[in-house]
Amino acid sequence: MEQGDLRGVVALDGPSGTGKSTVARRLASALKSGYLDTGAMYRAVTLAVLRSGGDPAAVAASTRLELSTDPADQVILLDGRDVSAEIRGPEVTLAVSAVSAVPEVRRILVQQQRSIIASVIASVGGIVVEGRDIGTVVSPDAELKIYLTASADARAQRRSRQDLAAGRTATVEATLADVERRDRLDSTRATSPLRKADDAVEVDTTELDLPGVVAELLAIVDNRGLRPGRAVTR
Ligand code: DC
Repeated sequence: MEQGDLRGVVALDGPSGTGKSTVARRLASALKSGYLDTGAMYRAVTLAVLRSGGDPAAVAASTRLELSTDPADQVILLDGRDVSAEIRGPEVTLAVSAVSAVPEVRRILVQQQRSIIASVIASVGGIVVEGRDIGTVVSPDAELKIYLTASADARAQRRSRQDLAAGRTATVEATLADVERRDRLDSTRATSPLRKADDAVEVDTTELDLPGVVAELLAIVDNRGLRPGRAVTR
């Protein structure tokens, strides 16, 4: 694979509805880097648990996940079957926090995530990784850690727009309740809870549109010298 413009790992963490996925994909495209959506992995294992009714740790150990790391072409296969759309549905969204709180599930997925990151770094040179524990657990030595935030209202508005666009109907109130419920569960679990790494740069996206967030992150990438050949814009 051809080398992209980014050198190293950009860890992008934060609660749901901050625009993290769209921002991470756009950032990776702009940098011609790889992209890894770790939430999709927790969602796919959750789907497998819901289907089989099995013990989450055993399911995580026995299912085969294959993910594309191309930001322009996101596909996830569960035991060879494309589940990219199904993992975004309400059943998975409702159950994913419980499954992702199981320490053994996290151990297995973190190991897979580290190996995907290492192979993309070896082939493309850089990767944007999004999740909840990338800067704290998966890649504590990441060259850049970003923690995206936004007000709960803004996050619920964004989530319900995404749901509507995907043909799922939900009121903003119901989405707000769901966003707050998942944040509570994701932030209070015992194993690698959602939290900002001490050395992460916090970016509040409440008042920013998508191009604004991406531009801000690109400026931080360049200030850190992670895109060789680019002038530092201070
Ligand atoms: O980013 P998302 O909404 O697709 O993530 C789905 C769930 O997976 C989220 O509620 C928390 C969990 N998750 C996690 O625990 N650790 C990660 N690195 C990524 C996601």
